[in-house]
Amino acid sequence: MIIKSAAYIISNVDWQKCPAPNLPEYAFIGRSNVGKSSLINMLANYDKLAKTSGTPGKTQLINHFVINDAWYLVDLPGYGFAKVSQSQRRQWEQMIENYLRKRENLVNVFVLIDSRHTPQKLDIDFINQLGKWEVPFNLVFTKADKNTQAETSKNVKAFLNKLREEWEFLPQHFITSTVKKSGRDAILGFIDEMNAQ
Ligand code: GTP
Ligand code: MG
Repeated sequence: MIIKSAAYIISNVDWQKCPAPNLPEYAFIGRSNVGKSSLINMLANYDKLAKTSGTPGKTQLINHFVINDAWYLVDLPGYGFAKVSQSQRRQWEQMIENYLRKRENLVNVFVLIDSRHTPQKLDIDFINQLGKWEVPFNLVFTKADKNTQAETSKNVKAFLNKLREEWEFLPQHFITSTVKKSGRDAILGFIDEMNAQ
């Protein structure tokens, strides 16, 4: 896919205020600081499209972008961010749950996993929850440049094995690095295919 245009549209707390659901939509979610906004910028080939930060909790709203005037890309706030109050966390969770379960044009959710770590309960629990809600998703293992290829493969394999405990069929997965600019074509290719259906 060639990216001809990428533009920010709007940020919302309320899924009902999101843009009219008239284009296929792809959302990016994952633990705080996993690299969602950086990945979105790499995909769009636009460094400052989504705001990135070394401090977790940067993205706090449902952020809509439109790509090639043909599909929506959505940057969601990260889960598992420790430095927020219980009530604020519950509010976020509700916002994300409503969005994921009710957004009718949502084609796929990319769940980002930090490839540096062994399987984390928080990620597994979130994925199992998506399954219960019947939200279509796949996985993106981020920051692959931070480890050797062998170490990354080992962590990916361990994560998929962990998922096997609950899932009969494993989701498709991608491995990315925004430093090495890798994994971009595979993800855009997937979106292209979905858009063509
Ligand atoms: P929140 O919005 O706070 O949930 O974070 P996020 O998931 O959007 O993460 P963000 O893209 O802001 O990136 C967090 C940090 O990780 C930043 O310092 C990025 O530069 C860094 N980062 C993201 N992707 C990569 C990657 O592929 N490789 C390396 N080395 N660093 C990365
Ligand atoms: Mg972000």
